[in-house]
Amino acid sequence: METDFTVEQLRAAAADAVRAPSLHNTQPWRFRLHDGGIEVAVDRQRQLPATDPSGWGARIACGAALFNLRLSLAVAGTPAKVRLRPYPTKTDVLARLTPDVPRRPTPVEQSLYAAIPHRFSHRTPFWPDPVPADARWRLGEAARAEQGWLELVIGVSAVNAFAEIARSANRVLERDPTYRAELADWVRTAPAPDGIPAAAGGPLGEPQDLLPSRGFGGRDRAPGRDFEPEPLVAVLGATGNTTTDQVIAGQALQRVLLTATDAGLGVSMLSQPIEVPGAREALRLSLGRFGTPQMVMRIGYGQPGSPTPRRSVDEVLDLPVARA
Ligand SMILES: Cc1cc2nc3c(=O)[nH]c(=O)nc-3n(C[C@H](O)[C@H](O)[C@H](O)COP(=O)(O)O)c2cc1C
Repeated sequence: METDFTVEQLRAAAADAVRAPSLHNTQPWRFRLHDGGIEVAVDRQRQLPATDPSGWGARIACGAALFNLRLSLAVAGTPAKVRLRPYPTKTDVLARLTPDVPRRPTPVEQSLYAAIPHRFSHRTPFWPDPVPADARWRLGEAARAEQGWLELVIGVSAVNAFAEIARSANRVLERDPTYRAELADWVRTAPAPDGIPAAAGGPLGEPQDLLPSRGFGGRDRAPGRDFEPEPLVAVLGATGNTTTDQVIAGQALQRVLLTATDAGLGVSMLSQPIEVPGAREALRLSLGRFGTPQMVMRIGYGQPGSPTPRRSVDEVLDLPVARA
C-alpha cells in the first residue's frame, strides 16, 4: 500500500478539482502536498468581501472541489481517507487526504467522474418536461451519501412562498452598491481565466420572472422563452452551519450536481436566500425540518452550454520548492 501521495497524483486530481463551481467563478481554493497527504485550503484572497463576508461561499466551493478531488483519486485507483478541518488552529486548511487501501473504482464513481467536464451552471429557462421521480430520488440519495439533505419544494403555493423569500433576499442584496460593484467586477466580456463570461450569464431579468437571477449577462430572451411557471426548486442543506458543515454541504452539492449531469439534467444555482440571514431563516422555517439550508437549485432539462474557464492548475498548487 502506498504511504504518500505524489506530486503527479496531486496535479492530476487538482486538474479535476478546479472544475468545481464557485461564487462568481472566483475559484477560492489551494491544493498542496504536506507530509505525504494532499491538503485543500481556502484562498481567502479570493473570498468576495461584499457577497460572502462570512466565507460560507468559499467553503462550499472548496467542499465541491474536494469532492472532485476524491472522485479523481478514486477513479485513478488511489482512493483517499479524508479528515475535515485537520488542524484546529490552521483554519484555512479545510481537508487533508491520505492514501487509503487501493481498490477499483465503483461504477457510480466512474459515472460521476465522467460527468465532471460536462457540468456547467445553467441560467436559461428549462424545457417544460417534468423531472421524473427516479431522477428526483437519485438527487436526494446523492446528497444523503455525503451527509447532506435535499428537500424538493413541491406544489404551487410552496414554490410561490419560496419565490417570495428569494426575491426579497435579492432586493436586500441589490440595495448594497458594493455588492452590485462586486458582481459587475466579476463579469468578463473578454477571455479570462476566472469570473463569469457574459455569454454564460443568462437572459436579463423581467418583471414576470418568479425567481430572481443574477445579472451576469444581460442578453434579451428569445420571444416566448420565459422561465418555467412552476420550476423544480431543491434546497440542499447540512446538519448545521459550522465550517465543517459547509465543507460537507459543498461535497454534497457537487455530488448532486454531477448526479444531475449524469441524468441529463441541468441545474441553476440560486444562493441569494442563503446569503441574507433573515431569508435563510425564513427558508429554514418554511421547510419545517432540522438543519441549515446551504444552497438552492432550480433543476430541469436545459439547453446545451459550455463549461466556463478556470485558472491553470499551476496557479492553485503549493509545491515544495526543489533544492538547487
Ligand atoms: C456558493 C455558490 C453560490 C452560487 N450562487 C449562484 C447564484 O446565485 N446565481 C448563479 O447564477 N450562479 C451561482 N453560482 C454558480 C457560479 O456562478 C458558477 O459555479 C461559476 O460561475 C462557475 O461556472 P460553472 O458552474 O458553469 O462551472 C454559485 C456557485 C456557488 C459555488
